[in-house]
Amino acid sequence: MRAGVVGCGNVASNHAAAYRDLPGVELVACADVDPERAARFAATYGAAAVSPDALFGLGLDMVSVCTPHPTHEAVVTEAAVHGVHVLCEKPIAIDLGAAARMVAACEAAGVILGVLFQRRFWPAAQRIRAAIDDGTLGRPFLGHASVLLHRDTSYYTADAWRGTWATDGGGVLITQAVHNVDLLQWFMGEAVEVSAAHTTVKHGAVIEVEDTAVATVRFASGGLATVAASTALTPGLGTRVRVTGSTGATAGLAEYPEGSEARVDVWAVPGAEAVTSPFGSGLAADLPLSAINGSLAPFHALQIADFAAAVRDGRDPAVTGREAAKSLAILTALYASAASGRPEPVPTLKEEIPA
Ligand SMILES: NC(=O)c1ccc[n+]([C@@H]2O[C@H](COP(=O)([O-])OP(=O)(O)OC[C@H]3O[C@@H](n4cnc5c(N)ncnc54)[C@H](O)[C@@H]3O)[C@@H](O)[C@H]2O)c1
Repeated sequence: MRAGVVGCGNVASNHAAAYRDLPGVELVACADVDPERAARFAATYGAAAVSPDALFGLGLDMVSVCTPHPTHEAVVTEAAVHGVHVLCEKPIAIDLGAAARMVAACEAAGVILGVLFQRRFWPAAQRIRAAIDDGTLGRPFLGHASVLLHRDTSYYTADAWRGTWATDGGGVLITQAVHNVDLLQWFMGEAVEVSAAHTTVKHGAVIEVEDTAVATVRFASGGLATVAASTALTPGLGTRVRVTGSTGATAGLAEYPEGSEARVDVWAVPGAEAVTSPFGSGLAADLPLSAINGSLAPFHALQIADFAAAVRDGRDPAVTGREAAKSLAILTALYASAASGRPEPVPTLKEEIPA
């Protein structure tokens, strides 16, 4: 199968390396609005550098969209129009209207839309999901997600699209915590209402969006969860997601430092209790972004292998566009609640993205 990559920035390497290493897949071409960037990137992976307009004329089977969030809709729609299966980076979009149009365009064209949430492919995350599926945890009723990260101010100033409401769609919630919100809703089910507050404590000189936020989430099951997220820590403390179920058992995972494969840090299941710190001492906490993204590559590779198999077999990928819209719906409600100062309903996807 012939694959391409659009957008040759930070995260694109994880996609290009996965395609290069995947049996039966050839990385044919890479495209970027910056031709020099595309040329450098394509040379690294032995692919052709082409303009974004030319990419979809190459008879590709699938393409990865690694461009900034506000451009996802245009690039995904272009792929759909050309009949190319498309794997888009998270978040699917910065508003649900765009997500709905992306899903509709792909469904109308009969192409598969997948969205990157590679943290679902951590064995620790899969183990927790399995403990929900097999009844070990029972019905999840209490969840916690903490996303306690370090970013230098240079992270926000490196690219013009970062840190504005119009182009980034938000701050730590939509760009970093979206992964952990996705895990939380994957474990706990449909979210129905949120309350949130956010502030900007460290990076306010260069961003207009939030760098710190807290929230509560209520689920259709009656379950409740808290979220705390910030990019203002030095050193960062990584991320954690924990779930307690109706059996009383708790399972949790911890990612430290950011970008590492998460480990199960709490497995408090009756008869099999384990509460451990899975990390050694002396680890460097605040890695450069390239190292953070690089250490996530094995899990990009697993999701990209799943997507390629979905294309080959004509089945849904692990994370579809509709599935990815669930975390965006929660984030939309979190921003609405922080603005209104009141609890806000999570938009119903049946209405936002009808079948
Ligand atoms: N899954 C993850 O863990 C993860 C990690 C990092 C980034 N991301 C996501 O990947 C996306 C890109 O992030 P990044 O950090 O790599 O950004 P980046 O700014 O480093 O790279 C984006 C690239 O896209 C190019 N570009 C912009 N508009 C384009 C267009 N219309 N057509 C072609 N090229 C275009 C830019 O020139 C740039 O080279 C974001 O949505 C981000 O949230 C996901």
